[in-house]
Amino acid sequence: MALETDFIIIGSGIAGLRAAVEIARGGARVTVLTKDRTSESNTEYAQGGVAVALSDDDKVSLHEEDTLQAGAGLCDEEAVRVLVEDGRRYIEELIEWGTEFDREGGRLVFTQEAAHSRRRILHAHGDSTGKEIVRALIKRAGAEKNIAFLPHAATESLVVEDGRCCGVRYLDPLLRAPRALRARAIVLASGGAGQLFLHTTNPQVATGDGMAMAFLAGAELADMEFVQFHPTALNLADAPRFLLSEAMRGEGGVLLNAAGERFMPRYHERAELAPRDIVSRAIVAEMARTATASVYLDMTDFDRRFLHRRFPKIYETCLRFNLDLAREPAPVSPAAHYCMGGVRTDIQGRTTLKGLYAAGEVACTGVHGANRLASNSLLEGLVFGARAGSAAVKECGAGADVSVSRKEIELEESERAQEDDRRSKGEVALAVRKRVRRLMWERVGIIRTRESMERALFEFNQIARAPLRPASRNFLTVATIVTRSALWREESRGGHFRSDFPERDDEHWQVHSIVKKDSEISSSEKLDFAS
Ligand code: SIN
Repeated sequence: MALETDFIIIGSGIAGLRAAVEIARGGARVTVLTKDRTSESNTEYAQGGVAVALSDDDKVSLHEEDTLQAGAGLCDEEAVRVLVEDGRRYIEELIEWGTEFDREGGRLVFTQEAAHSRRRILHAHGDSTGKEIVRALIKRAGAEKNIAFLPHAATESLVVEDGRCCGVRYLDPLLRAPRALRARAIVLASGGAGQLFLHTTNPQVATGDGMAMAFLAGAELADMEFVQFHPTALNLADAPRFLLSEAMRGEGGVLLNAAGERFMPRYHERAELAPRDIVSRAIVAEMARTATASVYLDMTDFDRRFLHRRFPKIYETCLRFNLDLAREPAPVSPAAHYCMGGVRTDIQGRTTLKGLYAAGEVACTGVHGANRLASNSLLEGLVFGARAGSAAVKECGAGADVSVSRKEIELEESERAQEDDRRSKGEVALAVRKRVRRLMWERVGIIRTRESMERALFEFNQIARAPLRPASRNFLTVATIVTRSALWREESRGGHFRSDFPERDDEHWQVHSIVKKDSEISSSEKLDFAS
């Protein structure tokens, strides 16, 4: 028998938690499923901060302009307006709920990041902004007695009956066996897919399952070729690819090549604060020119006390690997960081599948276009998490007709067959993941070509012939979709760069890529399918 709740939220980052609060305060029962600890998500690791036009010298219209400019012609203008306008009120609400953004003399302090025309990035505990927001949101969600958290429960697929999403199949954390949970509606807030790439700033949980599950259930995905590579991940032997926040360059850090020369002014007038894709490609070019595997982020002009106060987490983490940022530059190189594409939604967070809503990195609302403006992602999760929750309640809450046939939810063939030997398949799954991650990094990474991507697709097809566990199947599905979309787009724009089509081509390609199961990729001028 399938268990039952009113609403399911998949994911407990900023978007999922905000959606949960929105739904629960109307009285409905909400179950939040997460595949790790409740606090483990991409949000938890967000350092730089959250962009919002709240400082005295800033305006919503300037934030809007910067966001559109970064998006390289593919933002949905209405979604951007909602983001920058509603963002202010949602941040103020977050402060009322106890989020402690950094202040000086009682006033909020704002830092600078690339491609922003103002200092507009709020941060918390220096460089632990996401962690502080998650803390405050979990506390706020805890005040709603009708929210139940189910940690360590990996969702493996969505249940669709009569064309409507009405539940999930997940892995029971105690029994390690598949279970089904039925609900009136599902909000997907499962985050991004940075783990598809060998080098990423993302935590282990960012494997793109939400995108794969939505796709396999029949929802459309959009703009999946647009992946943002962060220029400055720590590149030290035996250390994780830990993010060295862009805020460090915002505060005045500079990039040096292996010969100790500052190179960014040669590539862009904004030097270290050029858009991320430009900085990432400049770093790749400098590494090739000097035949080295990294460049260096130099913060040695700043004294130790400043670094410790402003970037405590980063400073301490580097120190653990015997790197004192006040004394020597940090070796860095780019790493996959953020997916601009995702499950296609309208500005209410509805997907193209009834009963399924999406928000945060898993979704493609159109606010980021082809390249996300730094620190807009937490704001997006907050604003669109609330909107998706609100739409789900309005459309599927008590009184709404969400009836489906209600037959017993069947566990999938692959889940049944593999229920007994999940453990023994562990190694195969790891090998699949390792192979896919390397192919994605080397062939569908910062610089792409037709030839490299065709080779990756060929290998993915080979891998897909083996019987795969649901998690591996989801992983491979997203890798294949990113690759197919990147092959389809024969131009370079924002985070997508092809050396065989190095120019932006507005005449033919100022369109969104739309991917749907069992269909060829199609193009759409607009993302919003409701209008
Ligand atoms: C950073 O701190 O550099 C990351 C912020 C972001 O990706 O928006």
